[in-house]
Amino acid sequence: MINYPSQIVAVAGSSGLVGSALTAALEKDGHTVRRLVRRPVKDPNTEIYWKPSAGEIDAEKLSEVDAVVHLGGAGLTDSWWTEEYKQKIRDSRVNSTRLLSETLAGLSKKPRVHVNASAIGYYGVRGDEVIDETSPGGSGFLADTCREWEAATQPSWESGIRVCQMRIGVVLSADGGALAKMLTPFRMGVGGVLGSGKQYMSWVALPDLIAAIQFALDHDPLHGAVNTTAPNPVTNREFTKMLGTVLNRPTVVHTPAFAVRLMAGREMADEILLGGAKIYPRRLQAEGFEFTCANIQTALETVLGVN
Ligand SMILES: NC(=O)c1ccc[n+]([C@@H]2O[C@H](COP(=O)([O-])OP(=O)(O)OC[C@H]3O[C@@H](n4cnc5c(N)ncnc54)[C@H](OP(=O)(O)O)[C@@H]3O)[C@@H](O)[C@H]2O)c1
Repeated sequence: MINYPSQIVAVAGSSGLVGSALTAALEKDGHTVRRLVRRPVKDPNTEIYWKPSAGEIDAEKLSEVDAVVHLGGAGLTDSWWTEEYKQKIRDSRVNSTRLLSETLAGLSKKPRVHVNASAIGYYGVRGDEVIDETSPGGSGFLADTCREWEAATQPSWESGIRVCQMRIGVVLSADGGALAKMLTPFRMGVGGVLGSGKQYMSWVALPDLIAAIQFALDHDPLHGAVNTTAPNPVTNREFTKMLGTVLNRPTVVHTPAFAVRLMAGREMADEILLGGAKIYPRRLQAEGFEFTCANIQTALETVLGVN
């Protein structure tokens, strides 16, 4: 961070794909990270206790930090979307964000910025409509969850803390998330288009996501909803073709929509795998953020270490 060197940054969800990359990047840049942990604290110098499911949080420790980033939440595709698991997806995001936000709002010494994860699921399934932050939200389970998730940051904002809700796209990394799950079938030559292949995939390479979060921490004019996706969304067909090219594997296997629904369940299939939205990062670009992986070929080559 250029404007704010040597910050103390509290990170929730620090053990996850994004959280572990962010904490490493912050520490490399000379910042001090305090991880919010959902178990008893082992080292009080580096960890802050919270247990969102029980409404517990160490508020006093949070008054020592300059910035807060919340990247927690139960995995979207870790289970079938039963009513019980959907409740867990929602509660682990909305209730934890509300607890954090209300706690920050009540501190006498508040952090200057609260960056919170949200997701492009906010926009729902939108065909090839061009979407930016001025577009209205969509419908469906993920859109409703994201609306509530973002609304839960309101106490921070009302108390004068700058808030950024990062509407994160599909994160591309070899270490986890959607791409890592696709690698085995694609390497075996059985990867291919899902459904019509026309559904848009708005993606972001992990290194650019980390840079965007750091930009949000540092850049005072940025606030509110921030689409955190690369400026070149692709269709599932284009993504499939490029992944095959980068891995030098065929992508002739086509999984029809009914089979995708059988494998993932209809709701998850329709909202995540067969549906999508064509999303642009207008606000990040307007504020001068530059993507190092702006197109899908560079992104896949970078995160997969292929040249
Ligand atoms: N990866 C993507 O493609 C993507 C796309 C859009 C949005 N996002 C959002 O970005 C954030 C980070 O994503 P990620 O890929 O890093 O996720 P991740 O790897 O699944 O990590 C999420 C972290 O959340 C915490 N967590 C897990 N279950 C929880 C629960 N029941 N209650 C509270 N916290 C829980 C855990 O951290 P601790 O054990 O350290 O608490 C976990 O490591 C998430 O909110 C995710 O929804 C991700």
